[in-house]
Amino acid sequence: MKKLGSAIIGYGSIGPIHAEAISNLPQVQLKAVVDLNKEARERANNKYHCQVYEQYDQVLQDSEIQVIHICTPHYLHVPMAIQAIQAGKHVLIEKPVAINLKELADIKQILKLYPNTYAGVIFQNRYNETSIKAKKMIENKEIGEILGIKGILTWYRSEDYYKKSDWRGKWETEGGGVLINQAIHTLDLMQWLGGKIKAIKGSVDIRSLQNIIEVEDTAEATLYFESKYRGIFYATNSYTENSSIELAVHGSQGNITLRDRQLILTKEGQSTIIAKDRGIQKGKPYWGSSHQKQIDDFYQCIIQKKDYSISIEEAGIAIEMIQGIYQSDRTERPYKMQYL
Ligand SMILES: NC(=O)c1ccc[n+]([C@@H]2O[C@H](COP(=O)([O-])OP(=O)(O)OC[C@H]3O[C@@H](n4cnc5c(N)ncnc54)[C@H](O)[C@@H]3O)[C@@H](O)[C@H]2O)c1
Repeated sequence: MKKLGSAIIGYGSIGPIHAEAISNLPQVQLKAVVDLNKEARERANNKYHCQVYEQYDQVLQDSEIQVIHICTPHYLHVPMAIQAIQAGKHVLIEKPVAINLKELADIKQILKLYPNTYAGVIFQNRYNETSIKAKKMIENKEIGEILGIKGILTWYRSEDYYKKSDWRGKWETEGGGVLINQAIHTLDLMQWLGGKIKAIKGSVDIRSLQNIIEVEDTAEATLYFESKYRGIFYATNSYTENSSIELAVHGSQGNITLRDRQLILTKEGQSTIIAKDRGIQKGKPYWGSSHQKQIDDFYQCIIQKKDYSISIEEAGIAIEMIQGIYQSDRTERPYKMQYL
């Protein structure tokens, strides 16, 4: 069978992780990398001997390329994805799928015109062994009925992190701060594990990066789930290190906690490690190690003509949650989720 040809757009921090994942897939070939930056193009070419382009349009015309990986700054995701879909390509988009609800609606609208297109969004932490096991334990009621969920992210982003980047820290190009960039995975996992959300009340603030960023470095929210329990969420880039995210589910017959790449079950005061994420970490440790698994699954769905689970609709839920927190901060009232 002829290999599927792929291209990566944006070869900054995350693009190389996609390239390596593709290079490990026997049914796929990395044909091209696009980046405005010459040094990034050289790095890609030296390692993978693929075509490199400065302009995105050039790969859209190449009929040998069927799948486009969008690894560019946030504000380019939807415009680039729409161009690719209209050129007849499948797309795998890094999170966040969109920076606002208008963009989310735009890409959904376009996809209706191209029903055979595969469009997936990276939420690699759903593929962690610990996350998958936690989901199964909840479904099998191993901790009884859910009573509450909490998600806590306390990370550090320096002034330099923002000053060295031309797109981070700005509403127009990043689309938000800690919520849309760092904590989006935690929000996604909270709704994936906890189920449908009725409403969200939250607030955002800048606590340490005043005069450096326009967007929030700190956010908190209460998630009101349809099944009556609550979720408690807190995220900040204003801590002093990137400590482990803690995501816990309180059940009527025990608790489960995801922390430090482990899933811990606590019942009657006894804690047991149920699962560990064993994958080799590439890139920053807090990115997790599951890009390979997610990218493999996406291609297997294309090859076997199966539905892909983390669709635009699915990834859009976290975007609505984030927009809901912003709206609730402005109005000081809960935002009612609409699952747009
Ligand atoms: N899933 C994860 O855990 C994870 C981790 C890190 C980053 N990301 C996401 O990946 C995306 C990229 O982040 P990053 O950290 O790699 O950013 P980055 O700034 O390091 O890299 C972006 C690259 O895109 C290139 N670029 C910008 N505009 C372009 C254009 N018009 N055409 C072609 N190339 C262009 C830049 O030159 C740069 O090399 C973001 O959406 C980010 O949120 C996801």
